[in-house]
Amino acid sequence: MKLFDVYPINAIEPVKALGSKIWDSKGTEYLDLYGGHAVISIGHSHPHYVRKVSDQLAKLAFYSNSVEIPLQQELATRLGELSGLDDYRLFLVNSGAEANENALKLASFHTGRTKIVAFTKAFHGRTSAAVAVTDNPAIKAPLNFAGHVQFVPFNDVEAVKAAVDGDTCAVIVEGIQGVGGIQVATEAFLKAIREACDRTGAVMIHDSVQCGYGRSGKFFSFQHYGVKPDIISMAKGMGNGFPIGGILIAPEFQAKHGLLGTTFGGNHLACAAGIAVLDVIKEERLTDNAAEVGSYLISELKGFSGIREVRGRGLMIGVELEEPVGTIRKKLLEDDKIFTGVAGTNIIRLLPALSLEKEGAARFLECLKQYIK
Ligand SMILES: Cc1ncc(COP(=O)(O)O)c(C=O)c1O
Repeated sequence: MKLFDVYPINAIEPVKALGSKIWDSKGTEYLDLYGGHAVISIGHSHPHYVRKVSDQLAKLAFYSNSVEIPLQQELATRLGELSGLDDYRLFLVNSGAEANENALKLASFHTGRTKIVAFTKAFHGRTSAAVAVTDNPAIKAPLNFAGHVQFVPFNDVEAVKAAVDGDTCAVIVEGIQGVGGIQVATEAFLKAIREACDRTGAVMIHDSVQCGYGRSGKFFSFQHYGVKPDIISMAKGMGNGFPIGGILIAPEFQAKHGLLGTTFGGNHLACAAGIAVLDVIKEERLTDNAAEVGSYLISELKGFSGIREVRGRGLMIGVELEEPVGTIRKKLLEDDKIFTGVAGTNIIRLLPALSLEKEGAARFLECLKQYIK
């Protein structure tokens, strides 16, 4: 049997990893500034994580949501403490798209409305509601054009004020657009969304799938501005590679048995992985490290003259060049042994582990310098 060929891939086979280092099947060492697309939060194969997941695997890997699973409450309690949002409730799922799917569905149950306001260049996932609010017709099947979504320009306060009305079910926004090219939402923009939702009874959904979990230098990126969304979706960094996602739900939403559900979401292994991640984020102060190393990278990059723009916060950074970045990324990978990400054609995207040390960041800067002034 062959695989369904949908992924363009690099001819590298990683077989081992530790922290921000990866080794391929030939024994070559790489520096990982991509984190498998922002997934590796506490660093590859962190010993505490390996121990916690292994111990849980030896005890009980899975049972469905029909029995008591105290690990779920432990994860929720720890998440409440670390994020400061302890009055929200947690619903656990398996991926970012599933988190957004449930966020949108819950908003619609809550308001009884269908109109969604989303933003240009947004990416929220590939399941039906999530892809409907994603601004990329190429990944929507005919079935996914639901007609409920109005796209307005990202960071446009007046457009938000005009679009959100008494028919609006929800506004969904990424605090820092990832796939869209590391565009940081402004304080005025997020506050305008909050105000428009308060005025009309619409639900503010903050997609923190990529920008959350400490990546921006605060636990959630909206916390830089003191804004409080009604529903927050999370995934990527939550399990450091173990598939887990979730939504945080503000107190005003009413839970009802059967309203939401999933077979795998919140399973024992996923919770063990999620708890281990929070242990390490807290113990090693990784959110602070993301802020520090991120600021260092951003300020150094701003000193390069050949760069059109440097955007981002913490360890979510976009380096936009005047020309396509394909050749430079290839050199970084093949000659300098550094993994980076990309957005569009001209943007190098950095999404390393939150534990990245300054030394690794400095090595990247030295290597990049060879290719741009
Ligand atoms: C902001 C954002 N939301 C949602 C998703 C979808 O997550 P997943 O691929 O886990 O379904 C992504 C994935 O890149 C994302 O960046």
